[in-house]
Amino acid sequence: MAQIFTASADTRLRAFFLIMLLVVLGVAAFAGGLADSTYVTMVGWFRDQPVPFSHQHHVQGLGIDCRYCHTGVETSAQAGLPATHVCMTCHSQVWTGAPLLALVRQSFASGTPLEWNRVAKVPDYVYFNHSIHVTRGVPCVECHGRIDEMPLTARAQPFQMQWCLSCHRDPAPHLRPPEQVTQMDWSDWERDPQAHKDYGALMVQAYGIEPDKLVQCNTCHR
Ligand code: HEC
Ligand code: HEC
Ligand code: HEC
Ligand code: HEC
Ligand code: HEC
Repeated sequence: MAQIFTASADTRLRAFFLIMLLVVLGVAAFAGGLADSTYVTMVGWFRDQPVPFSHQHHVQGLGIDCRYCHTGVETSAQAGLPATHVCMTCHSQVWTGAPLLALVRQSFASGTPLEWNRVAKVPDYVYFNHSIHVTRGVPCVECHGRIDEMPLTARAQPFQMQWCLSCHRDPAPHLRPPEQVTQMDWSDWERDPQAHKDYGALMVQAYGIEPDKLVQCNTCHR
């Protein structure tokens, strides 16, 4: 009977399979690395904004509290972004003619809100709620980093499932007295880690926080 495969066809076939294997492994390794890379998590990335709003100037420099502009943060799911009239309470008096603020004045005059490019966002299928975190004393800085040092707003945390879960498994060390949540540099307890731990453990009990429930799928996927 005639040979179906010649010796050389057999070699070519083996080579083909070997190359396919390498391609598959290569893609897997690339995808794996990509999931953790800042390209996907966007940590540290800032986005261009229509107006170069600086938290560094307004929060650290002028000492404005987060809640002055993000009014929903204690009472609703969304922190919210400030309406233009909030900017104009000051900018109708200071820097009134500045070209940098031309779009702010236009927006105020026309009533069309500024369109900010979002940097802190989770996909629509994830349920997040600010008020529940903030009223339990989870500080802004845990999730948004040192906003007060950012000339342009950048993302500080990956906002991936594992990151949420790692705190939900053991929230105690992350809790503060709720009146301290907007404090960026809160060093009292950094000097006394034991006091912080004791406080956290006490609050987990006081609020009735149940880590077992916090890691269940329907907590965040409803
Ligand atoms: C409580 C008063 C106040 C409010 C509210 C305020 N600003 Fe300012 N802003 C200032 C002052 C004062 C400066 C000048 C800061 C400096 O030179 O250090 C400034 C500066 C700026 C600048 C110039 C660049 C910079 O950062 O120095 C921009 C742009 C700006 N503000 C945008 C905004 C926008 C947009 C809003 C609303 C979301 C806003 N500001 C709300 C007081 C305010
Ligand atoms: C004077 C008003 C003002 C104050 C005070 C302020 N912010 Fe903002 N914030 C803004 C504006 C305007 C934007 C949208 C532009 C941008 O992303 O920089 C914003 C954006 C953000 C974002 C990104 C939202 C997104 O998804 O794009 C976060 C997070 C944030 N602020 C947190 C804070 C925290 C935390 C504080 C207090 C330490 C604070 N802000 C104080 C005006 C303010
Ligand atoms: C436990 C983590 C966590 C804490 C604490 C937290 N945030 Fe957020 N923040 C998020 C997440 C997640 C989003 C994206 C929400 C979304 O996409 O719906 C977000 C979005 C925002 C936005 C964009 C607008 C909005 O409402 O979605 C602002 C502004 C903001 N946060 C400000 C604050 C301020 C101010 C504080 C403290 C008083 C704070 N956040 C505390 C996780 C947190
Ligand atoms: C630094 C700690 C921390 C991080 C990070 C964190 N959480 Fe939470 N989360 C808490 C605490 C504390 C509570 C309050 C639990 C309670 O009172 O029972 C909570 C409660 C919640 C609740 C309400 C659960 C209920 O009782 O119905 C949701 C939803 C939630 N978190 C979603 C998220 C999502 C989504 C992320 C990530 C994007 C996230 N959280 C990141 C600490 C955290
Ligand atoms: C504390 C909040 C939280 C809990 C609890 C949680 N998830 Fe998620 N999940 C998230 C967030 C945030 C994302 C978005 C991840 C991203 O954007 O990278 C996500 C994404 C996902 C995705 C999309 C694919 C992916 O991995 O990005 C799936 C599937 C998923 N979750 C399934 C589950 C299942 C199953 C459970 C229960 C075992 C669960 N989640 C519990 C927060 C949570």
